[in-house]
Amino acid sequence: MTVLESVSAAGGGVLIVGASGFIGQFIAEASLHADRPTYLLVRSVGSKTNKTLQDKGAKGVVKDQAFMEKILKEHKIDIVISAIGGANILDQLTLVHAIKAVGTIKRFLPSEFGHDVDRANPVEPGLTMYNEKRRVRRLIEECGVPYTYICCNSIASWPYYDNTHPSEVIPPLDEFQIYGDGSVKGSDIGKFTIKTVDDIRTLNKSVHFRPSCNFLNINELASLWEKKIGRTLPRVTVSENDLLAAAAVNIIPQSVVASFTHDIFIKGCQINFSIEGPNDVEVCSLYPDESFRTVDECFDDFVVKMNGKNFTDETDGNTAQNHVVEVLPITMCA
Ligand SMILES: NC(=O)c1ccc[n+]([C@@H]2O[C@H](COP(=O)([O-])OP(=O)(O)OC[C@H]3O[C@@H](n4cnc5c(N)ncnc54)[C@H](OP(=O)(O)O)[C@@H]3O)[C@@H](O)[C@H]2O)c1
Repeated sequence: MTVLESVSAAGGGVLIVGASGFIGQFIAEASLHADRPTYLLVRSVGSKTNKTLQDKGAKGVVKDQAFMEKILKEHKIDIVISAIGGANILDQLTLVHAIKAVGTIKRFLPSEFGHDVDRANPVEPGLTMYNEKRRVRRLIEECGVPYTYICCNSIASWPYYDNTHPSEVIPPLDEFQIYGDGSVKGSDIGKFTIKTVDDIRTLNKSVHFRPSCNFLNINELASLWEKKIGRTLPRVTVSENDLLAAAAVNIIPQSVVASFTHDIFIKGCQINFSIEGPNDVEVCSLYPDESFRTVDECFDDFVVKMNGKNFTDETDGNTAQNHVVEVLPITMCA
């Protein structure tokens, strides 16, 4: 097993689990960017692994409690952020027990990074994942582990109902699929996640992402994309029943995404509840001076990508060059 460590000294140690994943790589980059001492626990170096980390030979796994306790103590970890994928949510139960046993972790951010799972209520098979995320929440709370739940809603991209990582795909160029009547409203995830980790205002709270600049329904998203590409596209309605049927065929992961799409665009799960409660905070009111990347800007990126420039690779390259932090491998046996 391998843990990777940065040599920066600002703030307490941050351990990121799942740093090679889609969401985890943004969090790892943001933690390095904030010059936090950053430790990455990942199972393997796959094609999705951030290039900076891959170059450093990042690899490792998490599973047993004794190993996790050892890591947390040895590296004087203050903050644990998990971005474990949807299929492995319950692996975090071991991590929660380890965090409780060590007793020195100041904040745990479990793998959420989507809807508020206590409020949203998708049909199956999405519901199973939400039940697992709810189970992790309840264990955290029962164990008295200090936590923050990041409820960042959708990624700023075209919400394909059968694609788990839509920001990797260009918005439609032939026709739009409009969910229902298209009027229900639907990233800076890494940056804001790292800001919350030692903010006392987010202790034992759900942090909701509702930036007004990105508060768009699917008809508005379609119009915005049409402006970018300079032409209009036909709109085809995908009805509530179509989405429910796509969920019911239970092909994983597409059906999971279809059930979430139904919850978002038919039932309005991102906005059909108030976040005024004592356990809720909104990210824009916490950090009013920090700007959000708009969907408009993200769509500009897609135009660049369409024109043949691979902006993803450029971003990774810049990340490698701009930061003074060095990631060092520490090999451990489990
Ligand atoms: N808001 C949104 O639109 C949105 C979109 C996507 C995901 N999400 C949420 O974000 C979270 C992360 O999802 P993702 O799609 O980023 O996941 P992902 O790309 O599948 O990556 C999952 C990561 O977790 C690691 N992992 C899994 N089990 C592990 C274990 N037992 N020990 C150590 N590492 C383990 C994987 O390692 P390997 O590389 O070795 O497999 C990988 O690095 C999930 O909660 C998901 O629901 C939200």
